[in-house]
Amino acid sequence: MGSSQSCCGGSGKVEEVAKIGGDGESPWRLFTFKELHAATNGFDEEFKLGEGGFGSVYWGKTPDGLQIAVKKLKSMTSKAEMEFAIEVEVLGRVRHKNLLGLRGYCVGNEQRMIVYDYMPNLSLLSHLHGQFARDVRLDWKKRINVAIRSAEGIMYLHHEVNPHIIHRDIKASNVLLDSNFEPLVADFGFAKLIPDGVSHMTTRVKGTLGYLAPEYAMWGKVSEKCDVYSFGILLLEIITGRKPLEKLPNGTKRTITEWAEPFILKGKFKDLVDQKLQGKFDENQFKQVINVAALCVQTEPEKRPTMKEVVELLKGSEKKDSFKHMRLESVKYKEHLMSLDKGSEEDNDDDNTYADESSAYGVFGALHVQKMQEPYSFQGTKQVGTIT
Ligand SMILES: Nc1ncnc2c1ncn2[C@@H]1O[C@H](COP(=O)(O)OP(=O)(O)OP(=O)(O)O)[C@@H](O)[C@H]1O
Ligand SMILES: [Mg+2]
Repeated sequence: MGSSQSCCGGSGKVEEVAKIGGDGESPWRLFTFKELHAATNGFDEEFKLGEGGFGSVYWGKTPDGLQIAVKKLKSMTSKAEMEFAIEVEVLGRVRHKNLLGLRGYCVGNEQRMIVYDYMPNLSLLSHLHGQFARDVRLDWKKRINVAIRSAEGIMYLHHEVNPHIIHRDIKASNVLLDSNFEPLVADFGFAKLIPDGVSHMTTRVKGTLGYLAPEYAMWGKVSEKCDVYSFGILLLEIITGRKPLEKLPNGTKRTITEWAEPFILKGKFKDLVDQKLQGKFDENQFKQVINVAALCVQTEPEKRPTMKEVVELLKGSEKKDSFKHMRLESVKYKEHLMSLDKGSEEDNDDDNTYADESSAYGVFGALHVQKMQEPYSFQGTKQVGTIT
């Protein structure tokens, strides 16, 4: 495929981009604006699937009957262009059944759009907290499958693609579900390509509060372990049906780990599981997932498992000994950081995404690096023992 420079570097270069790419299984191609305009009925509001940091996403249908999702860039800022370039570049590199690959893209003088296959069951978010939450289409078995398969997708990014890819925005709205509820991890616009031999990089913080690993939120230190942390939060969300950050009636906000901790300490698993499942779940699997999540959300990144280990643990093929000394640690965000979380403030289904261009540390705005520790206070590292 064309490089990020050739597809986004300027209007004159458009013709230089290869017209088709990918392999036989998942070919992608260039779409014209006219084609996508027609497919989405002129980007009809009625066809809008949702809106994120990048722009709006529209449902569409091509003349040959293919259902597509068209992500339309909100504005032509350099930052947005950069994200577009990264997304297209990264998508062109990945091929995995649990990652949402590229169907195509469109570059015009004033537009940038990415085309994906339409996922009929939308996102995990819509099933856990959105329009499908009450129907409970996502039963226990499907939830476990979503957890394992999406972990496999992330494992592929971390361990199999070269250079390795850190997603940096693992969350429920970025896990899409096909007609069989098979998960496909989406949105690599925030991805970071890690050259061989580099263990971590320091970068501007992007992502979603509630899923952010502490070392990443505080110092912008990004490694595969940031995705592992976010995935741990996602695991808790999948089995409990709670949001990563919840607004309490008294106006304060609570993280999912803060909420879960006391139940785990008392071994009250039935109170932890999503009540919408009406008791239809496998208790052993539940404990297993809680254990894995607890390993993933440890404050120290070095202690967290790799995604490869996460997959093995979730599949139950790893020895039970791995759970010895398991702790559930929880991060408590302080007031002024919480106040930045407009997502839970508005009580909508979208999480709030932080990508502040003005600061090297987006989540903290203009705070000095020396003050970085202040916004967080860790609630100790409570030993909760091994759950067996
Ligand atoms: N291929 C797709 N098929 C079906 N629905 C999709 C597809 N891609 C995106 N959507 C829907 O559009 C919504 C908006 O997606 P988008 O990725 O722009 O925002 P987001 O995931 O909420 O936030 P972010 O910008 O941080 O990724 C998603 O929540 C999802 O429901
Ligand atoms: Mg998304």
